[in-house]
Parts: sequence; C-alpha cells; structure tokens
Amino acid sequence: MRIAVTGAYGFSGQYIARRLLDSGHEVITLTNSPDRKNPFGKPVQAFRYNFFRPAELAESLRDVDILINNYWVRFDNPPQFTFAKAIANSKVLLDAAKRAGVRRVVHISITNPERKSDLPYFSGKAEVEAHLQSTGMSYSILRPALLFGKEDILINNIAWSLRYLPVFGLYGDGQYRLQPIYVDDLAAAVVQRISQDSNETTDAIGPETFRYRDLVEMIARKIGSWALIVPMPPMVAYQSVRVLGCFVDDVITTEEEVKGLMQERLYVESPPLGRTKLSDWAEDFRHRLGRHYASEMWRRTDRVSSYR
Ligand SMILES: NC(=O)c1ccc[n+]([C@@H]2O[C@H](COP(=O)([O-])OP(=O)(O)OC[C@H]3O[C@@H](n4cnc5c(N)ncnc54)[C@H](OP(=O)(O)O)[C@@H]3O)[C@@H](O)[C@H]2O)c1
Repeated sequence: MRIAVTGAYGFSGQYIARRLLDSGHEVITLTNSPDRKNPFGKPVQAFRYNFFRPAELAESLRDVDILINNYWVRFDNPPQFTFAKAIANSKVLLDAAKRAGVRRVVHISITNPERKSDLPYFSGKAEVEAHLQSTGMSYSILRPALLFGKEDILINNIAWSLRYLPVFGLYGDGQYRLQPIYVDDLAAAVVQRISQDSNETTDAIGPETFRYRDLVEMIARKIGSWALIVPMPPMVAYQSVRVLGCFVDDVITTEEEVKGLMQERLYVESPPLGRTKLSDWAEDFRHRLGRHYASEMWRRTDRVSSYR
C-alpha cells in the first residue's frame, strides 16, 4: 500500500515508517522538516504539511491508501505554534485526506481526551478525534499515555535531572499514576491496524503502571543517581523546573502538563497494548539514559538534525 506517515523523521513516526518499509509498503511523509536527516537509508518522499494550501496538501495525498497521523504540538508557544493552530491544522489535514480519497486513518491521540477539560492538550485531542469520526473515513484511534524510547524527551529529561542535579523535586506527593508505552510497541499496534476496516478507539499503554514517585525512583536506581527525591508543593517544583528551563533554553515542562499528570490523565483502566517494560528498557539503556538533555524547542527550531 501507499501510506502517508506524518513526522516520519521525528519520534514515533520514525518507528512507524520503519516497520511499514520493512513490510514492503511505499511510505511518504508529511512534515515541517523535509530536510531533516532521513533515518531510513531508503527513499521516503517528504511533502510539506501545506496547511495553508489545502488543495496542495490533498494533492500530496493522492493515491495514498492510509494516513497515519501523529501531528500535534506539546504546548502553546505563540506565535510559532499553539493548540488552536494544531486543532485547525489537524482538521485541514483530515479534510484533505478525505478529499484525496484516503481510505483509512490511524490516528495517534492521548489517554483521557475530553472536550470539557481545562487542559488544551486533552480538550484539543478530543476535538480532533471527533472531527476524524465525522469525516466518514474508516479510522483507528490509538491513545498512548506517555512514550518512551531513545528519542523521547520526558523520561530522558527526568534521568538527566537525576544524573546532574543534587535534588529532584516531585510535584506534590508523586502518588499519581502513569502507564508508559514503548514507542516501537505503539508502532507495531499502528501497523497492525492499517489492514483492518472497523472503526475503533484503543488505549495504548505499556505493561507497567507506575506512581510518578516510583517511576522517578526506579530510573534513579537504574542510572545510579544519588539525587535526593523530595515531595514539594507542585507550584514550587514547577517554578524550579521553569527556572532550570532558562538555563537549558527550553520549556522543560508546562503547568498544564503537570496538572495533566496530577489529574491522572496518563492513567486508564485498560489492558496493556505494549509488552516492553520501561523498567527493563531502562536497565538495558541505563548507561545512555539522561546523559544529554533532550530539547523540545531545539527540535522545533533546528529542522535539519535528527532527533537525539
Ligand atoms: N511523546 C509522548 O510521550 C506522547 C505521549 C502521548 C501521546 N503522544 C502523541 O503521539 C503523537 C506523536 O508524538 P511524538 O512525540 O512522536 O511527536 P513528534 O515526532 O515530535 O512530532 C509529530 C509530528 O508533529 C509535528 N510537530 C510536533 N511538534 C510541533 C510543533 N511544536 N510545531 C509544529 N509541528 C510540530 C512534527 O513536525 P516535524 O515533522 O517537522 O518534526 C511531526 O510531524 C502526538 O500526536 C502526541 O500527541 C505522544
């Protein structure tokens, strides 16, 4: 099949595209970064997102059977990127796919999306899911909680803090739960869904459920960190992270992300989809995990280097 994967030079898109290529599919990608290093060693033709020229966007999706859509933004950073723009762009993309005759969309969302949520990540994802369902294209929606893998940012930067700082402040007591899934397990689930026809929505979580504190302590043990892990009032911990962000010239996390974590938005009562345990992966990867800071803003400004 001819399959379009958004962001194939990025994080999850890279794993999905690799699996598709290995299965013999023809893969094209839609991206903001067509000049980013192609990690495949095989041709993956890149087209710009062209959200402002929907006809051209639809043209780049001509003869595409399946669209795999992971386009989204992590936070508001006006004027460059905002949730409002991401919602509008996602709708343009899905409408273009419909016009181009795309048969099925495999769409990556988030656990616990909710139209009424005060967190724009979760309300925006719910809006885009609803739009996809209204297009009439066949769809599979996968809702991951948190991804881990070599190119991940969030788990890596927890490890980075534990390696290089004497104190790690938890947001509150750290008792809220989360269920990370390995990025290649998500990719396998995506590829499995391209040949189905039914409409479905599935939570995509890994086999381990952690309390945030336990997750931080597990990573600390794996990498041999001596950092003091202490509960802090959430706003104090968040403000400290914000200041740290000034030193690394990045948005390490946002207040909304902390709220989402503490509201257990990354926790669901569903069976695991992935099989890889974060604790096993962190053991295998312990010498490299968190050695270098992974910057979200750097990825958004350097559009040539590959994700590290
Ligand atoms: N990473 C996680 O832990 C996690 C957890 C739960 C759900 N998800 C969901 O999984 C999907 C994939 O996540 P990912 O981490 O694999 O994403 P990613 O590879 O970093 O990015 C996916 C796509 O979105 C584009 N994009 C990302 N941030 C952008 C920004 N600020 N402005 C403009 N375009 C932007 C990327 O552009 P380029 O092509 O130019 O790189 C790429 O095409 C997303 O829908 C996300 O909501 C991720």
